[in-house]
This record gives sequence, structure tokens and C-alpha cells, in this order.
Amino acid sequence: MDSYINLKNIEIEELKHVDLDRVNVNCNVPDFEPQRQYYYMAKCRESVRAESERLGHPLTCAVITFGCQMNARDSEKLLGILKAVGYAVTDSETADFVIYNTCTVRDNANQRVYGRLGHLGAMKKNNPHKRIALCGCMMQEQSVIEKLRKSYSFVDLIFGTHNLYKFAELLCAMYESDRMLIDIWKDTDAIVEQLPVSRKYPYKSGVNIMFGCNNFCTYCIVPYVRGRERSRDAREILREVEHLASDGVKEVMLLGQNVNSYGTGLADGISFAELLREVEKVEGIERIRFMTSHPKDLSDELIGVMKESDKICRHLHLPLQSGSSKILKAMNRRYDKEHYLALALKIRREIPDIAISTDIIVGFPGETAEDVDDTIDVIRRVAFDNAFTFQYSRRTGTPAAAMEQVPAVEVTKQFDRVLSAVQETARERAALLKGQTLPALIEEVNEKDDSYVVGRLSNNTIVHLKGTLDMIGTIRRIKLTECRGFYYMGVIEHG
Ligand code: 5AD
Ligand code: SF4
Repeated sequence: MDSYINLKNIEIEELKHVDLDRVNVNCNVPDFEPQRQYYYMAKCRESVRAESERLGHPLTCAVITFGCQMNARDSEKLLGILKAVGYAVTDSETADFVIYNTCTVRDNANQRVYGRLGHLGAMKKNNPHKRIALCGCMMQEQSVIEKLRKSYSFVDLIFGTHNLYKFAELLCAMYESDRMLIDIWKDTDAIVEQLPVSRKYPYKSGVNIMFGCNNFCTYCIVPYVRGRERSRDAREILREVEHLASDGVKEVMLLGQNVNSYGTGLADGISFAELLREVEKVEGIERIRFMTSHPKDLSDELIGVMKESDKICRHLHLPLQSGSSKILKAMNRRYDKEHYLALALKIRREIPDIAISTDIIVGFPGETAEDVDDTIDVIRRVAFDNAFTFQYSRRTGTPAAAMEQVPAVEVTKQFDRVLSAVQETARERAALLKGQTLPALIEEVNEKDDSYVVGRLSNNTIVHLKGTLDMIGTIRRIKLTECRGFYYMGVIEHG
């Protein structure tokens, strides 16, 4: 038998390569991270193995993600740990262990979780060995926890956004407990690096550059559930991007609630534009995207870096929220209609082939038809390439929840006007690409017809073309032959 490994003697970079079955779990638990979590992974492997023997099959798990790119990245971290402790990953909610990684940005996200949770509960009745965990933004709300305690007592484990890095430790505790285990933190300063991650796509990956948000837009619950803004050390980010590149990743998406304020609060902080320049130097990375930009913080330096870059994609997601200066003020967005228009038009002027997408909320308290006229005016003048339009959702605890609300029928009426306007500009913008030949990253086989593959242009437009599985993850030049509304049919240009 090989000798036992003591985690205290292992360098952080080496932890990912440690054989967990050789880790000594009969010593004191390390009181520093991330070694502590590797200790619990080793311990958890024993529980997973024992349970799998008892049930007579390999244990399966499924992580179901709601919400944004941040959540998608968090789910990859959960899956990294689950694989490391011995679970086989599936997509099916019939798995032995199901985790919902939740979102709470709008109430319908919460309602979907409750609905699906009901079904999971019914499945658990027939299979008492099934385990269910909930995590993510929705869990940071006290009222949600109370409801779960009362009406969903079959849930085994609940944790939040700040202690996700302790997932291995929580898993171990779940195995030792026969009651609902709840661990929610209000906030944290900690950023724990070097835990295992299981990527969904081999050729592209999200990279967190910052966590939390300090903006406090009056409609938004995110600052309350994701905590204060914290930037990751630039060296750590670059180390991760280099590692991803060496692992075959061609495209990275830098993630943060407000990437333009990256670096504030770091001792030797660099700006977001400088960070982009550094990421661009990483060999093997061919495309760089980022999300989300706040119009109040978007610098000329950033526009300059984007303009000069061959790798930064020709796409900017720049949430407008409203085109009315009055509503923007009530939303605490800290820009007005003129500022947004001037910024968006400057970007269009400087980088003519860029696509600008946006988020728009309709029905914020106090919004009138004239305010919506302003929103539509901005939509037409900027000519958004794509827009996510949302009906305002009242979030308990936010300042806007206490303001006078717009009647639902009025919201629906105005929403339809906004939707038509964005569909119109998106169609017009898409049509402009017809006949061009542009590089596309081939991302997946078409779900409906496997003789087709789906590619994505630098400007985020989707193109369908004849192709095969071996093309996935490669960048090909595609002639855009036929525009079908918002997407294209195309053919590979050979030679
Ligand atoms: N109601 C509706 N939409 C919201 N968003 C954030 N909070 C709310 C809310 N309370 C939208 C914003 C944001 C996107 C991620 O979700 O448009 O940019
Ligand atoms: Fe993402 Fe916000 Fe939803 Fe959390 S609440 S998952 S940060 S969109």
C-alpha cells in the first residue's frame, strides 16, 4: 500500500493532481483553504463509495442551472467537486443526487424552482435514497429559507452564494446528517482558488474576474444576494486563462456583474482594459468575451482596447434598462438617456462592425407611455442587435418594491411595444451581414438535424451550416448565404 498523503505538504497548484484515495483523512482537518476542501473531498469519496455499494450502482448526480453565466460557471465548480468525490454526471433529474443552482433576479425564476421542486419531492417518495440540494442566489433570501423549511422539508442540503467553495465540506456534513442542513452566509471576503472545475464545453469557458455588486439599482436584488464587489487578483485570472488555453480552450468569457469597475479595491489593481490586454497575450486563446458592462463605467480606454484587438469579440452587452432619464434616475442607474445614446453611438462610430445588445425592463414603478416612448427612441437610434426585454418584477427588500407599482395590464401593453421595436432593429441589423464571409466558432451539432452544426460569429450571431462532429471547437470561415430573421444559414468557405 502506498503511503498516505498529508495535504499540509502539498503546494496549492499540485492539489488538483492529488490522488484523493491516498489522502490521510484520519489526521486533523486542515484549517486553511483550499486544502481543507480537498480533505473533505477525500472523506466524501468514502461515503459515496459506501453508498454506491449499498445501492448496487454507481451514484449519479445532476446539476440544474437557473439564471445567468455566473451561475453556469458556479455549476461547473459544483460538478468538478461531484466528479472528484466519485459521482457519475447526468442531465436527468432521476439522478441519485440533484442540485438546483437557483436564480432570484425575477420572481418567475423562483416560481419555476418551487414547481420543479414539487416534482423532485414526489420522485423522492418513491426513492428515499435520493438526495436533493439547493444553492445559488434564491437561497440568500430569508423568506425562501422559511418557505423551504416549512413546505419542502424533504430537501437535504441548502447553501448560498458565499460558501459555494465549501461544497465538499457541506457534502460530507450532508452524508452524516439525516435532517435538512442549511448553511447560508450573509457575505464574505474570501475568494478561494484552485478547486476542481468540470467544464461544460471543452473549447470555451467562463472566467470569474469579480464577484458581487455595489451598484444598488433600485429594482435589483443582486447586491443583496451576491454581496459586495470583490475583484480577483489579475495574476490568478491570468494563471487560470493560461491553464484553460493549455487545456484546449479557445474562447474565454470574463464574468462579473460590472466588469468595467474591475480592479477597484485591489492593492495593485489594474483596470479592466489593462486586464483585457494581458488576457489577449495568452497564446492559444483566440476569442475573448466579457459580461456585463455598466454604461456609467465604460471607459474610452476600453473602447480603444476593443478597437485594436484581434481577439476581443465584436460584441458588447450594454444594459440600457430604460431610455427615460426620469426612470433611470429612479432606478439609480447614474446615467441618463443622452449619456447612454452618446456612449452607444461613439462605440458604433469607433467599431463599426460591433454588435450591441442590451437588457430592458418594462413597467418599473412610475413608468408612463411617454417614458416607454423614450426607451423605443433609444432602441431605434442605437439599433440594438439583440435585446433581452423583461417585465419589471417586484423584489422584496429592494427600494423599488416600496414604490407605486404599474398595473399589470399596462405593463403587458407597453412590453409588447418594446418587444416589437427590438425585434425590428435586430432583424435589420442581422440582414446587414448577408453575403459576408466571417469566422465562426463551431459550437455544437444541431439538435434537430445532426448533419448540421451551429457556429457563432464574433458578433454573437448564430449560423447554421452543414458539418460534422469533428468540427466542434474549430474556427471556420463561413459564407453567410441566407438570413432567417435573427440567425443565418451559411456554407464553409474552403481554401
Ligand atoms: N425585474 C425585471 N428585470 C430585472 N432585472 C434585474 N432585476 C429585475 C427586476 N426586478 C433584469 C435587468 C438585468 C437583467 C440581468 O435582469 O435587466 O440587466
Ligand atoms: Fe445571476 Fe442575478 Fe440570477 Fe444570481 S440573481 S443567478 S447573479 S441573474
